[in-house]
Amino acid sequence: MDRIVVQGGARLTGSVRVSGSKNSTLALMASALLAEGETVLRNVPRVRDVDTMLKILEALGARATWDASDPNTVRIEGRVLKPEAPYDLVRQMRASFLVLGPLVARYGSGRVSEPGGCAIGVRPVDQHLKGLEALGATTRLDHGYVEARAEAGLDGARVVFDMVTVNGTQNVLMAATLARGETLLENAAREPEVIELAEALTKMGAEIEGAGTDRIRVRGVERLRAIEHAVSGDRIEAGTLLAAAAITRGEVLVQGVDPLHLESTLDKLAEAGVELVVTDDGIHARAWERPKPIRVVTAPYPGFATDMQAQMMALLTLGSGSSLVTETVFENRFMHVPELQRMGADIALDGRSAHVRGVERLQAAPVMATDLRASACLLVAALAAEGETTVSRVYHIDRGYERIEAKLRQLGAEIRREG
Ligand code: EPU
Repeated sequence: MDRIVVQGGARLTGSVRVSGSKNSTLALMASALLAEGETVLRNVPRVRDVDTMLKILEALGARATWDASDPNTVRIEGRVLKPEAPYDLVRQMRASFLVLGPLVARYGSGRVSEPGGCAIGVRPVDQHLKGLEALGATTRLDHGYVEARAEAGLDGARVVFDMVTVNGTQNVLMAATLARGETLLENAAREPEVIELAEALTKMGAEIEGAGTDRIRVRGVERLRAIEHAVSGDRIEAGTLLAAAAITRGEVLVQGVDPLHLESTLDKLAEAGVELVVTDDGIHARAWERPKPIRVVTAPYPGFATDMQAQMMALLTLGSGSSLVTETVFENRFMHVPELQRMGADIALDGRSAHVRGVERLQAAPVMATDLRASACLLVAALAAEGETTVSRVYHIDRGYERIEAKLRQLGAEIRREG
C-alpha cells in the first residue's frame, strides 16, 4: 500500500496550478445522465473518486470513459440500461447517491445502495429523499438499496431543506429540471459547486434561477441536451496548497482557481498573518512568522469550509497562541487530531471544538490518513515537522487530490511516494 514520505523543513516557493474541482466534477458527471448525447467534461481531476463515478455510470449502462487523447477530459453518453448503482461502488463514495435524482427524473426509477455512514459522520440522505418525494417520487428501502420511482414523471413542488446540504440540493435540483412545472428549493446550498452545476444544467437547456442564493427556482423542461464544459478550479485544493505554503513560511502563487470561491479561507489565512495578494495571475501568498492564533467555525458556504478545517488546524498547531476550531457541519471530523498529537501538537478536544495551543515545533512521526482532508492535513503538518514523516493509507488522499506530491515537490518540498 502506498505511503508518502515527507522530509520536513523545506520552504515552499514558486507557482502551482490547481486541478479541476473534484466535487463539481462528481455532480456534473451525474448530470450527464439527464442529457441526450455525449457530455464532454474538461479540466477533470484524475482522482479516484472520478474513477469511481465513471464505474458507477458504466454499471448503469452508460458509456463513460477518460478521453484517449486528453488526460483530463471525460466523455459520458448518459444512456441507462439498468438504473441500479451497486453497493460495492456506492460504499466507496457517498457522492454516488447523486445519480438517484437524474435516474428517477429521466428514467422513472432508480436504485442506489444506501450509502451508510462514513468516517466523518453519520451522513444520512433523508433530505435527498424528502426532496424527491416532494416531486412525487415514491421511495423505499429494499435490501440495503434506496429505490425511487416516478413512472409517470415528476411534478414540480416546493422543497424546504431542513439543513443546508450540498449534494442534497444538487440531487433535487437535477431531478427538478425534468419535472413538470415549477420547483422551488428553499434553504438551498449556495456552494460554488451548486452554482456550477446550475450553470451547466442551464447550458443543457434547463430553466433555473437563483443558484447561489438559498432559494432556487426551476421550471421543468422536456429534455436536456449534452454539453461540453470545463470544470472550474478546486477551491479546497487551492486552500490546502496555501496552508502548505504558510506552514513552511514560504512564498507561492496558486493559479487556476477563482479567489472568490475561497474567500473565507483567504480571510482566515490573512487573520493568521499570511500576506495574500490576488492578481490576474492568481493568489500570491507569503508567510514569514508563526501563525497568529485565530477562531475558525466551519459553516455552509460562504462560511468557512469544513473541507478546509483539518488543513487549517495543521497550520494553527504552530501558532503563536491558542486557536479555537469549531466543526459545525459534520459530527466526527476530528480524526486528524490524534495523529497531529503524535507529531507533538497540543490540541484538546471539547465536543465540537478543538483548542489548539500553538507549539514551537512539530516532530516527524509515522501517521495514518483516515479520510481525504485528514490526510491533506497530515501532509501540511509533515512539511513543517522536524524529520521524516511517513503518511500511510494515502489512498484516501488519492480520492481527491491529483498528483499532490508532484505539486508539492514542484514547490520545493522533499516528498516522495513509496509503493
Ligand atoms: N445531511 C443530513 N441529511 C441529508 C444530507 C445531509 O442530515 O440528507 C447532513 C450531513 O450529515 C451533514 C450536513 O447535512 O452533517 C451537510 O452535509 P452535505 O449534504 O452538505 O454534504 P455532502 O453534500 O454529502 C459535500 C461534499 C463534501 C463536503 C460537504 C460539505 C461532495 C461530493 N462532497 O458533501 O466533501 O464536506 O458537501 O461542504 O460534494 C470532501 O470533498 O472531502 C467532502 C467530504
